[in-house]
Amino acid sequence: MFSYRHAFHAGNHADVLKHAILVHVLDYLNRKDAPYWVVDTHAGAGLYRLDSDWSSKNAEHADGLARLWDREDMPELLAAYVARIRAYNPGGRLRRYPGSPWLALDAMREKDRLRLFELHPNESDVLAHNLEERGGIALRQTTIYATDGFEGMKALLPPPTRRGLALIDPSYEDKRDYRRAFNAVKEGVKRFATGVYAVWYPLVQRVEAGELARQLPNLPVKSWLHATLAVKKPAADGFGLHGSGMFLVNPPWTLAAQLKEALPWLKEVLAQDDRARYTLDAHTD
Ligand SMILES: C[S@@+](CC[C@H](N)C(=O)[O-])C[C@H]1O[C@@H](n2cnc3c(N)ncnc32)[C@H](O)[C@@H]1O
Repeated sequence: MFSYRHAFHAGNHADVLKHAILVHVLDYLNRKDAPYWVVDTHAGAGLYRLDSDWSSKNAEHADGLARLWDREDMPELLAAYVARIRAYNPGGRLRRYPGSPWLALDAMREKDRLRLFELHPNESDVLAHNLEERGGIALRQTTIYATDGFEGMKALLPPPTRRGLALIDPSYEDKRDYRRAFNAVKEGVKRFATGVYAVWYPLVQRVEAGELARQLPNLPVKSWLHATLAVKKPAADGFGLHGSGMFLVNPPWTLAAQLKEALPWLKEVLAQDDRARYTLDAHTD
């Protein structure tokens, strides 16, 4: 049984990077009228309480989103992301955090569709409950599968609308997740070459993590973007998350410029020691 619960990590530095990019991609997809699908292979619970026992235990958001919360000098990419989170926190106190499915639903139009995979039975129950509570259009446009997201994604591609985003955001508790994430994108682009794919991965002292980061840019795709953000030096024992990376296939052309502005700022604001770093690489044929 899994021990992972995203609530521990909701709003941490890795979520800031991942979700700021996600919001940008969704806003970009909305520039065109044609409907799209979002496939979230590892959905989590959808919505988290930051003041619950689960997440206040480690309060990882204190060194993540909370450091941005009262800043008025944010780069555009981050201002757009924080504005979405503010909508969940009327009054200004940070108490609730929307995960990727909720950020997607906030951006999506009635004609767009969301497909969520969440393998953990408790987590998928909570997700289904949260979706029920959200109600309205979200219920009609969303399908939840309590099954494996790597396998499930394949069957949904290409989406009938031929426009879409796949977010691949495993917990990497199982080291095979690194290979499976790579294969999911590789298989995905074979079926749906024009889709946007976003893979999140942790910067940890693990051979598999390094391999994934090296292999993704070799995929036969027209364009990709790769951003990483480390907030501290790697832990001596090899455990713990000192940063994270996001790799996108077919990223919006607007994203690189936005990250160029946002990453140096984030590095300063989220740094936990003098080993904070970022990288940004992009390629277009
Ligand atoms: C990093 S969390 C997801 C966070 C979410 N994408 C977000 O950004 O808000 C990873 C989730 O994947 C679930 N999970 C683990 N293995 C899975 C699999 N093979 N298929 C689908 N879900 C899985 C875990 O239970 C966990 O809730």
